[in-house]
Order: sequence, then C-alpha cells, then structure tokens
Amino acid sequence: MAKQKLRVAVIGAGGIFRGAHLPGWQKLADVEVVAVADIHRPTAEATAEAAGVPKERVFEDFTEMLRKVEVDIVDVCTPNKAHTPATVASLKAGAHVICEKPLAATPAEVNKMIQARDKAGKLLMTAQHKRFTPSARALKSYIEGGALGDLYYARAWAIRRRGVPGRDTFIVHDLSGGGPCLDIGVHCLDLTMHLMGCPKPVTVTGVAPMAMAGLSDVTGPWGPWDKQKYDVEDFAAGFVRFENGASLSLECSWLLNMKEREIFSAHLFGTKAGVQFPAAEFYTEKDGTLIDGQLVHMPQESGHENEIAAFHEAIVKGLPSPVPAEESLDVIKILDGIYRSHKSGREIKLA
Ligand SMILES: NC(=O)c1ccc[n+]([C@@H]2O[C@H](COP(=O)([O-])OP(=O)(O)OC[C@H]3O[C@@H](n4cnc5c(N)ncnc54)[C@H](O)[C@@H]3O)[C@@H](O)[C@H]2O)c1
Repeated sequence: MAKQKLRVAVIGAGGIFRGAHLPGWQKLADVEVVAVADIHRPTAEATAEAAGVPKERVFEDFTEMLRKVEVDIVDVCTPNKAHTPATVASLKAGAHVICEKPLAATPAEVNKMIQARDKAGKLLMTAQHKRFTPSARALKSYIEGGALGDLYYARAWAIRRRGVPGRDTFIVHDLSGGGPCLDIGVHCLDLTMHLMGCPKPVTVTGVAPMAMAGLSDVTGPWGPWDKQKYDVEDFAAGFVRFENGASLSLECSWLLNMKEREIFSAHLFGTKAGVQFPAAEFYTEKDGTLIDGQLVHMPQESGHENEIAAFHEAIVKGLPSPVPAEESLDVIKILDGIYRSHKSGREIKLA
C-alpha cells in the first residue's frame, strides 16, 4: 500500500507563502498541500489554484478549516499579530506548525505558543530562512570548529536606504506589532545569535523612532505607503549584553539616508578570527601576517526551500525543531526590550 502523504494546510496565503513556502512544499514527494485559509477570499482562491487545492477546501476562517480538514502540518504565514492565535489553534488541532518570522511580536505571545506546543506534543518551528542559506550553514560549521577563538562581539545590520514594504501587514501596528525592528531586525538578530551559539541575553538598551516615514517628501522605489496609516518605527538600534560576556549591536531600518541600497549583514568578532555574512568571509592572522579568506563550494540553494525541507525532515525522523521557539523567545525579548527601552529611556533587564 502506498504511504500516506503528509497533509499541509496554510493560514495566510499571501506573498511569502505563494512566493517562497509553496515551492518548498511542492519539492517534497511525500507532502501534499490540502487546504488554504485566508481572510481575503480572492487570495485564498488564487493560492489554492496554484497549489492544486480544490475549492471545497478553501476557507476564510482558519478555525473552520481546522475543524473540517485533517492535517499533519500547518504553515502560518499571516501578518505577525495573527501568528499566535493561528499557531495555538493549529497545535491544539494536533498539527505540527511552521510559523513565519517574527514568531510573535511579544514574549508573552511566544510563551503562549510554547505552552500550546508542549501540551500538544508537536513540533513548532520559526521560519528563519536566513539560517538555512548555504552561506549561513558554511559559517556555522566553520565557527563550530572553533575558528573564532573567544567570540566577544557581533554586529547585526538590516538597513535599507529606501525599502518600506507598503502593505498594511507591515506598516499598521495592530497587524505587525512593529516596524523594521520586527520585520528585518528579527532576521539579522536571529541569524547573528544563531552563529554566536545562542548566548543568553541579559540586558538591552535601544531606540526605535519613526524618523522619516511620515515626512511628505520621502518616497521609495518599493512604491508608496499610506502615511496616515503608518504607525510603526522606521529605524531601530540596540545594544545587547549576554550572560557569557559577549555583546552585540543591532541596526535596522527601512529608510536611512546612506549610500548603499541595502545592507543585510552579520559580523562576528573573535580573538582568533572574525567572519562576515553573507560573504562567508573570514579575517585572521597567522605568523604575523593578516589573512582574508573565503568559504567556498557553497551550493546555489534557497534558504526558504531548505527551511521547509529541514522541518519536514525533523517531522519524519522525529528530530527536534530546526528553529526552536525558545531561541525565538530570546530574540523577541531583545526586540521587545528595544521598544521598551525607547519608551522608557532606560536599559532593560532581560534575565
Ligand atoms: N521570511 C521572509 O523573508 C519573509 C518575507 C516576507 C514576509 N514574511 C512574514 O510572513 C508573514 C506574511 O507576510 P506576507 O508578505 O506574506 O504578507 P501578505 O500581506 O502578502 O500576506 C498575508 C496574508 O494573510 C492573510 N491574513 C491576515 N489575517 C489573517 C487571518 N487571521 N487568518 C488568515 N489569513 C489572514 C491576508 O489576507 C494576506 O493574504 C509576516 O509575518 C511576515 O513577517 C517573511
């Protein structure tokens, strides 16, 4: 008898699911996308058609979908503020969940997800696809070999000259929970902490102003945004101290008057060497000579497809979550701490 395929449902069938997750699921022979839920019916129907899901399994209400369709995996790709209700309901329905970044906008919401995961005994993974890029994987194994010596400082940048994602999903606080700090800061912070070996954060200080997005003469090649609706920061910076003595600085912005169009990078500095993502370069010294090097033979692979494949492998082989919610909790504590520090003007204790 043919083995039954793993049944996947999506909640939030917009840009990231259609463009990045669906191709990942479609590459897996023993997986079938069986149901689609999206509050916007035309989006749900268009994605269902692309995924080969019949009309009777298209829903506007995800709770109805979870009641009516038996699924093994739910892929949560809603705006950030809907991640928690969708994830908790899916875990309660007995599904493994992969949820887009940021796992949630606040530590309290992440804790709710962790409780639901533990009660259900299912896997929960945050879709931090940058960890699954060939460059990040190569750097991770280089660092794990001890190449950096004592790793004492890191720098995480996700900064754009002009790059506001104009959809309500991102710029309206009730949907996103925050601006670039949560949207792209979460990517570079998660990746940098992953490469550092996930040290425990103890304090953070930061700022998160809306500096430019409301100005009438600020435009951008990504298209216009509604300046009346826009109510999140457009810039954030933070400084984090870790329990092991290391520290990290973070900068994220959708609008920064700088030369480059965009910089997404992680720099790690150790006593024996430093490394840089995404170039996968290292910088060191040997016998009195300074050396720059490059990790090579990296395959051309999509981080999104690799993350879906890693989640699938964890389910099939009974492995731990490839991006555990506990690691995301520390990341969200830091980002939430930056917002709290901005409001209070003080350093925030995290542990
Ligand atoms: N990993 C990445 O690089 C990356 C890139 C873009 C977006 N994202 C993340 O993916 C998520 C979605 O972003 P997007 O770009 O696909 O946005 P999007 O606006 O294109 O899609 C979100 C979809 O969710 C639907 N939706 C909203 N509330 C819902 C609910 N309660 N139930 C069901 N559907 C609901 C909307 O109708 C919309 O179709 C966000 O959390 C975002 O941070 C990640």
